[in-house]
Amino acid sequence: MAFIGHQFCRAFSSSTLRSVAIKHVVIVGGGQMGAGIAQVAASTGHQVTLVDTSEAILAKGVKGIETSLKRVVKKKFADKPEAGEAFIEKVLGCVSTATDVGAVVESADLVLEAIVENLKIKQDLFSGIDKVAPEHTIFASNTSSLPIGDIASVTSRLDRFGGLHFFNPVPMMKLVEVIGTSSTSQDTFDSLVNFSRALGKTTVSCKDTPGFIVNRLLVPYMLEAVRLHERGEFTLSVVSFLRCPAGILRNSAILVISGHGSKEDIDVAMKLGAGYPMGPFELLDYVGLDTAKFILDGWSAMDADNPLFAQSPLLNKLVAEGKYGKKTGEGFYKYK
Ligand code: NAI
Repeated sequence: MAFIGHQFCRAFSSSTLRSVAIKHVVIVGGGQMGAGIAQVAASTGHQVTLVDTSEAILAKGVKGIETSLKRVVKKKFADKPEAGEAFIEKVLGCVSTATDVGAVVESADLVLEAIVENLKIKQDLFSGIDKVAPEHTIFASNTSSLPIGDIASVTSRLDRFGGLHFFNPVPMMKLVEVIGTSSTSQDTFDSLVNFSRALGKTTVSCKDTPGFIVNRLLVPYMLEAVRLHERGEFTLSVVSFLRCPAGILRNSAILVISGHGSKEDIDVAMKLGAGYPMGPFELLDYVGLDTAKFILDGWSAMDADNPLFAQSPLLNKLVAEGKYGKKTGEGFYKYK
């Protein structure tokens, strides 16, 4: 699809952009993350090209952006619905779509990838673009768990490659983790920080280590909650076969231990006791159990002896059954 509204977009951007270094961003992957990043980038006056494998997926992505913008406008332009409509039109005018990434990188300052979490597929994408993108174009990945250096290794622009890790849902979540590898140049890193700030985000600097900052802390926490739940259930079945010297089942012990492991109790405890907006099981269902398992598998392959990365039989079982969480209608909980 051809670019639309670029002139309009540039005029719009001049008044809102804080950083002018990255003006045209090509976002590859129009799923939940790519579409969210496209929305925020276009809303802050950047020229955005969203790329995916089919026109149907792209149409769904753009529709999602429009729906999300309508929610934003309802709040921001509550008293001025016409200005809200004009804002949506301006933002959508900054977004064009394409199915052939090679054909749209010509004027890209940044190519940001948010495709499937698979190293080989990400490498294939970047090695292809590397041959056709202009010299100055910066490449970045939104990967949650793969080493940025491994993705970059197939390109000839190690100094112009970094990580930009956004959070879901992108329009709501304020943070971007900016990741530099040992080869990322300071100029590239600064450009990525400036770009993220121009999107209205707060940035933190991360090294290229598993999970960066947030997921390195969050994933072990969520998995420990699952293990706590598993330990509760496991202890229940073992204790129920124990007999005291008088030969009577120790039912009182069973009740205490099984209550300790309930997922509902753990979620309530972390929400009301720790002030977290979601409990760990609710959050896992939101992130996707398949994604959580993928991250855990990758980390345990790198550091098998680390107990924080130990496998969870329950998580494995749910994933094997296709219960990935909210997106499939069932994970730890059931959804309509
Ligand atoms: P998603 O499954 O919603 O979207 C991925 C999109 O990429 C799909 O539309 C798919 O058609 C497209 N795609 C796959 N291969 C492609 C290719 N070769 N060329 C063009 N498009 C291609 O996935 P989601 O959740 O948006 O995740 C994308 C990336 O962002 C992953 O690396 C993930 O780890 C990362 N991420 C995900 C977060 C989350 O909460 N879901 C949070 C932060 C990062």
